[in-house]
Amino acid sequence: MSETQSYTVVLEQLPLILVKSVQEVSVAASLHELEQLKAKYIGKSGEISLIMQQLRIVPVDQKKEFGAAVNKTKAQFEEAWIDKKDQLLEQELSVKLAAENIDVTLAGRGNPSGSLHPISLSLQRMLNIFKQLGFDVADGPEIETDYYNFLALNFPHNHPSRAMQDTFYTQNRNILRTHTSPLQIRFAETNQPPLKVIAPGRVYRIDMDATHSPMFHQLEGLWVDKNISLANLKGVLIEFLRRFFDNSSLQVRFRASFFPFTEPSAEIDIMSEEGKWLEVAGCGMVHPNVLSNMKINPEIYSGFAFGLGIDRFTMLRYGINDLRLMFENDMDFLTQFTGVK
Ligand code: DAH
Repeated sequence: MSETQSYTVVLEQLPLILVKSVQEVSVAASLHELEQLKAKYIGKSGEISLIMQQLRIVPVDQKKEFGAAVNKTKAQFEEAWIDKKDQLLEQELSVKLAAENIDVTLAGRGNPSGSLHPISLSLQRMLNIFKQLGFDVADGPEIETDYYNFLALNFPHNHPSRAMQDTFYTQNRNILRTHTSPLQIRFAETNQPPLKVIAPGRVYRIDMDATHSPMFHQLEGLWVDKNISLANLKGVLIEFLRRFFDNSSLQVRFRASFFPFTEPSAEIDIMSEEGKWLEVAGCGMVHPNVLSNMKINPEIYSGFAFGLGIDRFTMLRYGINDLRLMFENDMDFLTQFTGVK
């Protein structure tokens, strides 16, 4: 075959290559496939490019015609290729838009309302009841000195009664208050009798099991005035307990006990639904030494005090059987108190 013949044969292939390549482009399913077709036909050793390389064997007077024919095929291929690319890009975009489509008619996720922690619920109850009974509400520091937590409350230095409470000490021998009783002294320092106050707050002791937590909550009460007697103590506390537990015939008993800061002292028990006595609070007539530490004359004034565990009251009221539940922030537990009073 002469060179003239061979390049004419090559030229005759062009329409076939064009039909084949445009057909392949038209069925390309992805941009990736489309890129591969570009390489296959007009890349460095693509089929159309290889034909163009034949230009060097084409006689000079035919070169122009040959080149024009190949370029036209290439241009037609490119045109089909670009059309297809636009089409695929558009498809890709509409798939993406469909995926990101927001259905504004769908129901919302809801907006669940929070609830108060059961301890807050019962504290609110307590505050309401005592406010109705005419008590003020006071507050004080959780890091205390030995004086307020012990000494002023008639716990002498090195006295065994201090061992009743497993105390956390700070490095400089301050303490995390072991009870809310220091608030009795603090309130008396800034107020004149009659003192009629409750003081709720966090307290700390080295203890931890199903019924003890190293941090727990107490509510302290103090009423000092002229002629305050044990009858006032019993009246206020029985009234409070019956209101708190929503039971106007709740049985309450006062059992003699000992606290350094009260004399006489008692522990308060209530009768459970199962007929068992449950200890719920400590109380007593304010010890004359404590009144003196408050700069109150025990010959003129008398008073009573009490302290109760808010957490224990909460467990009794809501039927919670493990104290630890109240400090774990478990949503299944907490959401049960939505709407509860
Ligand atoms: N502070 C006592 C305690 O932590 C509770 C207590 C008992 C407080 C008798 C009082 C009281 O005010 O009179 O165990």
